[in-house]
Amino acid sequence: MKKWWKEAVVYQIYTKSFYDSNGDGIGDLRGIVQKLDYIQKLGATVIWLNPIYQSPDVDNGYDISDYQSIDPRYGTLDDFKELLEKAHARGIRLIMDMVLNHTSDEHKWFQESKKSKGNPYRDYYIWRPAKNGKEPNNWGNYFYEGRGSAWEFDETTQEYYLHNYSKKMPDLNWGNPNMKEDMCRMMRWWLDLGVDGFRMDAVNRLVKPKGLPDSPNPPTPPVGIYGYVVDRTMCANCPGIHELLHELNQEVFQKYDMMVVGETGNVDTAIAIDYVKEEREEINMVFHFEIAKNPVLKTVVEIKEIERRWNHVVMEQNGWITQYLSNHDTPRQVSFFGNDKEYRYESATMLGLLMHTHPGTVYIYQGEEIGMTNVDFPSIEYYNEKYTVGKYETMVESGVDPETALNSLKHTSRDNDRTPMQWDDSDNGGFTTGTPWMHSNPNYVDINVVREEEREHSVLRFYRTLTSLRKEHPVMVYGDYHQMLEDDEDLIVYLRQYEKETWLVICNFYGNERSMPQKVQEILDQEHGTLLLGNYDDVTNETAEQIRPYEARIYQLS
Ligand code: NOJ
Repeated sequence: MKKWWKEAVVYQIYTKSFYDSNGDGIGDLRGIVQKLDYIQKLGATVIWLNPIYQSPDVDNGYDISDYQSIDPRYGTLDDFKELLEKAHARGIRLIMDMVLNHTSDEHKWFQESKKSKGNPYRDYYIWRPAKNGKEPNNWGNYFYEGRGSAWEFDETTQEYYLHNYSKKMPDLNWGNPNMKEDMCRMMRWWLDLGVDGFRMDAVNRLVKPKGLPDSPNPPTPPVGIYGYVVDRTMCANCPGIHELLHELNQEVFQKYDMMVVGETGNVDTAIAIDYVKEEREEINMVFHFEIAKNPVLKTVVEIKEIERRWNHVVMEQNGWITQYLSNHDTPRQVSFFGNDKEYRYESATMLGLLMHTHPGTVYIYQGEEIGMTNVDFPSIEYYNEKYTVGKYETMVESGVDPETALNSLKHTSRDNDRTPMQWDDSDNGGFTTGTPWMHSNPNYVDINVVREEEREHSVLRFYRTLTSLRKEHPVMVYGDYHQMLEDDEDLIVYLRQYEKETWLVICNFYGNERSMPQKVQEILDQEHGTLLLGNYDDVTNETAEQIRPYEARIYQLS
C-alpha cells in the first residue's frame, strides 16, 4: 500500500552539530530554521531530529531529564513550534527521537525512585539487591564505563539499579503500568503538537529477560578483566516486546498519521518481520545493523545477500525497510565503505545512488550529502562520546598502550559523524561564530556546502538529483527488486520494475576498473538501455564497456 513514509527521504539532523544561530558553539533549533531552504533544496521530505529534550547531556541528549521540555541549549518550545510550522509549510515533516529504554538519573522519576523502596516511582526502574555480595548479574554496560558493570550500587536503599548504557542512564521497567501510561501520554502530547512520528531508540531492548540471568558468554575484553560481559543480545527481542509494541501502537501510533522507525540492534530479517509486518500493528520499519555494523566491514557479496533478504521483508511479507549507511553512531560512510581521498566524489555518489535505488525509506545523515569524512584527532582529549572514551579508559587501565588504544578506536569512533556540519571555508566551517562544542574536521576548508555548490563534480548536486528522481519515478520506491551477479565480488547490479518502468542499476563498490559483464550488456542491448544518471560524465559507447572505480549508473530499459 502506498504511504508517505515509504516515499520519504529522511534527513537526520544532529542538532548540536548542525548550525549555531547564536554563537554559543552549540547548534540549535533556530539554526535549523535558518537552514530549511537548504534542506528543502536537498529534497528531503522528513527531518529526524536527534534528542533535543532537556538533558544533562552525558550521551548527547539520549539521557533525558524532562521529555516535555526543550533543552535550553537548543532553544525553547516556541522555537520548536516555529521550526515545525516552517518545515510543514515547506511540505517537510518532522519526527522526534523517542528514548524509552532509559532516562537520565536526573529525571524526576529516578530522583524519586532512589529515595526509598516504598516510593511510588521505585518500580519505574530496575532495582535488585546484591547477589553474593556482588552485582545482581555479570552484565557489562555498553559504554565500557567505569569498571564495566551494568549495575550501580546506591547507598540510600542499599540496592543496585540497572543501566545498560551509562550509570547516568538508568533502564526503565516497562512492566510498570503507571510508567507506561506516563510515556503514552507524553508521546501523544508531542503528536498533538504536530510532530509526524518517532525514531524509537533501542526499541527492541525495552523488555528485559525474565529473571535477569547471567550472560553465558565469557567476559568481554577489556572490561573482561573485571569479569563483566558486554552482551547486547541479553536484552534484545525478549519475550513480551511484541505485546508491548502492539500496545503502544494501539494506545498511541494508530491514532495518528505518523511514521515509526525503530532502532533495533541484534535483529536479522527473521526477527525483524515480527516488528514491521503491517497486520501485526507494531512499528513501520527498523534500522538493522547488518550493513552499517560498526566496526565490521562487510564484503560486497555479503551486502548483496543482506539486501536480498531484507527485500524479502517488503516483497513477500508486507513489511517495510530502511536504507542507510551512516548515522550519528557510525563512522562517515565515504570513509568506512568508500575511499575518502582519491575517489571521494565517486565513492560518495556511488554509495548515495546505491541507497536511493534500493527498496525502502532512505535516510541521509547530515553532511553525507557533501561527502564529509572521518576526522583524525590527535589525542583522546578531542573525543567526546561515551563509547570511545569509556573503551579507551578501560583499555589503558588494563595495560594497553594509550597510542595503540586510540588508534584502535579512531576509525570507528562515533565522533567521526558528530563533528560540526561544514557550511563554508570560514572558521569552523561556518558552523558557529563562537567556539564549537566539538572540534571541527580541519578539512572544512575544502569540503563544505559552498564548495559543493561550485564544484564541477559535486556530491551535493548528485544527491539533489537522486531525491528529485525519487519524486518523479515511483519505481525507486515501489519497484520490484531483482539482483544479478550475486557472486560478483565488486559489482552490485539489480533491476527495479514498477508498472511500465524498468531500471537497471550498476554500482562498482570498489576502486578497481571492471569490464561490463556480458549478461548485463546483453540486457542493455536487448532492452535499449539509456543512461538516466551516472557519476562519471563521459559515458560514451566506448567507455560504457568499462566500469570505472566506484562508478554507478542507472539505465532505463524500454
Ligand atoms: C542509540 C543511540 O543512537 C545512541 O546514540 C545512544 O548512545 C544509545 N542508543 C543510548 O540511548
